Amino acid sequence: MTINFRLPGPTPLPPAVLAAMQREMIPHRGPAFRDLFREILRLAKLVHRTDGDVLIWPGTGSAGWEAAIVNLLSPGDAVLAAVCGNFGDRFAQVGTAFGLDVRRLDVPWGEAITPEALDRALDAHPDVSAVFLTHNETSTGVTNPLPELARSARQHGALVIVDAVSSAGALPLETDAWGLDFVLSGSQKAWMCPPGLMIAAVGARGWEAHARSRFPRFFWDLSAAKRSADQGMTPTTPPLTLLYAYRAALDLIVGEGLEAVWGRHHALGEQTREGVRELGLDLFADPAYASDTVTAFAPPTGVTASALLEVLRRDHGVEAQGGQGHLVDRIVRFGHMGWAHQDDLRDALVALKRASATVSAPPQAGAIPS
Ligand SMILES: Cc1ncc(COP(=O)(O)O)c(C=O)c1O
Repeated sequence: MTINFRLPGPTPLPPAVLAAMQREMIPHRGPAFRDLFREILRLAKLVHRTDGDVLIWPGTGSAGWEAAIVNLLSPGDAVLAAVCGNFGDRFAQVGTAFGLDVRRLDVPWGEAITPEALDRALDAHPDVSAVFLTHNETSTGVTNPLPELARSARQHGALVIVDAVSSAGALPLETDAWGLDFVLSGSQKAWMCPPGLMIAAVGARGWEAHARSRFPRFFWDLSAAKRSADQGMTPTTPPLTLLYAYRAALDLIVGEGLEAVWGRHHALGEQTREGVRELGLDLFADPAYASDTVTAFAPPTGVTASALLEVLRRDHGVEAQGGQGHLVDRIVRFGHMGWAHQDDLRDALVALKRASATVSAPPQAGAIPS
């Protein structure tokens, strides 16, 4: 049975990315690496829609939270964490772990952070130096209205730090036009690569904040990464195989065209939501903010998410995921980002229909109770 990999990360790898990873090592201080890395940075800037800097480290999305904090802020700084799900919550927790004075704007999971709510929170906390925003909350399938939220943060004089882990490379994301100061992501989502790279775009205000920041740092130091990147290099040994993969994935994205990639994800989001609704299952996210990279929905009445996931996996080869935190057994999540196409989602929805029927069916007469 072929696996239909519908996790909201890691995501399936395109054949070109798999092939790129077969390549032998090259000297990471030599000209071939410099050409490779410079090209990656050029393409990554195009996809982030920025004339500013993009920098890359070995790491995952969580490293991006830490890198943003230690590079742009100082111990004791007040920040506002806008939380609408598990990842926003974790971002806030990282702030607390680093000794920031974290104020929170919480909305019920499944809802989005609205600009009005952010305005009110920032009016109540005029001393915050930064706002932590999650562009796409993977745990609930909600896409926050990032341009409006960024505008609100800027109007209140706060830095705009964006977790774009499940949006970069799939959803419209305009680093410069929307005034985003630090945009972090991880390679294993819409970037169509294995886990292991942390990618960050840094704007002019991000660099100004970096110059003022007083956190100790070494591995995640932006200045060191930038000095090396300007030479086509990285401060430490680069994860070459992952960079080969990222280069191939960026070629695919730029080759398809960024607007076409965004359009494909929108179509996949619509297809998935419609398919789920047709089965009579309840979508979890506020429809006005439903994500085009991950769809969360409730299992059939009386059925747990784990029971449905088990049948999807065992009988249909569909690997999907349940909820997080208090939603663990209450929602199922289908990822549709990166190397995802209509056929994959059509097959997953057919499997969902059959699996729902299986788990909902009353036990057959004469069956031996387990
Ligand atoms: C929105 C978001 N932020 C952060 C993370 C954490 O990333 P990682 O697990 O790569 O450290 C994830 C992971 O799924 C995520 O979806």
